Amino acid sequence: MKHAFDINRPYLPEWIRLDQSENPYGFSFNRYPSKDNEQKLYEAYIQYINRDLNLNSHLSADNLLFTRGAADAIDLILRTFARGADEEILVSDPTFFPIKHWAKIYNIPLVDEKLTGDTLNNINVDNVISSKATICFLIHPNNPTSTCLDSTCLRSIIENFNGLVVVDEAYIDFCHDRSIVELVHQKSNLIVLRSMSKAWGCAGLRAGFIIANDKLITSLQFIQPPFMCDSFTCDHLSFLLNERYTEFCNYRELIITSRDDFLSTFNGLDGFETLPSDTNFILIRCAKIPSLEKVLMSHNIVTKSLKINDVEYVRIGVGNQLEMKVLKQILIDEANCDPKY
Ligand SMILES: Cc1ncc(COP(=O)(O)O)c(C=O)c1O
Repeated sequence: MKHAFDINRPYLPEWIRLDQSENPYGFSFNRYPSKDNEQKLYEAYIQYINRDLNLNSHLSADNLLFTRGAADAIDLILRTFARGADEEILVSDPTFFPIKHWAKIYNIPLVDEKLTGDTLNNINVDNVISSKATICFLIHPNNPTSTCLDSTCLRSIIENFNGLVVVDEAYIDFCHDRSIVELVHQKSNLIVLRSMSKAWGCAGLRAGFIIANDKLITSLQFIQPPFMCDSFTCDHLSFLLNERYTEFCNYRELIITSRDDFLSTFNGLDGFETLPSDTNFILIRCAKIPSLEKVLMSHNIVTKSLKINDVEYVRIGVGNQLEMKVLKQILIDEANCDPKY
């Protein structure tokens, strides 16, 4: 079926372009975004994946689709693949909340499968495989739990689930060796979501990629509104991916080091409890500070309290080195403890 918009049209530089009712004067962005530039962005992203994971993924631009962030990708997947009256989706629980929100809005029945284990990185694979859901959403590493799903569980679900498996890798850059992106060649039911908001620090741009086999990408492209990849975002991302990989690695390393340093300070310290993290956020609670979120707010530090299996944690994003130093001192002072012991 033909796309509602003719977005793939190539233009030669000498052509007089009068087909899109564009403004010939305008400022820098008077033309609709160029498909060629979008292709170049896809190539830059693939090159980044190959470099970062140290592999030849054999991905091509046909395996990628730009989205306005991974959140937009989830919405697009539901609108594309969960439209039938008898569709049902399965999510690991707890999960990234917007999935449940959109499922409710679109009247899609949803089943939860609880994450288990001390670090909530396991799931009952048999239950997932035998469910009648047609789409299974897994967040790897997970928000809110901050841990990766056990790789045997993950691979077994991808291998045996009788429907689409969507793996949201929004945080994967913080533990890149756990990525399953190259499996999209072997598994035609696998969709991987990537975000530019986290390790690449581009949350304000709204950018991410869906990675899947070309048939799934074509179906998604058909439903997606045209020109999602605007000219500014497209050029800026290509520039970052091509020219700023070294800086990206340095910033990522700083975040990982700060995270691990914070966790090693507080894990087991006098009333504090933390979960291990494969992301750029930390879950912490402290028996001595029951209203931790409020206490931190009184120091002008904004965090988020949330419950995981009825246990209340505060979720803290890893800030810069100074911010983490200030935060650490406040926690130590408020709990009246000494990290040396
Ligand atoms: C698991 C997960 N997926 C997707 C997103 C949304 O990412 P984006 O900014 O790319 O839309 C988030 C944001 O926090 C998230 O935690």
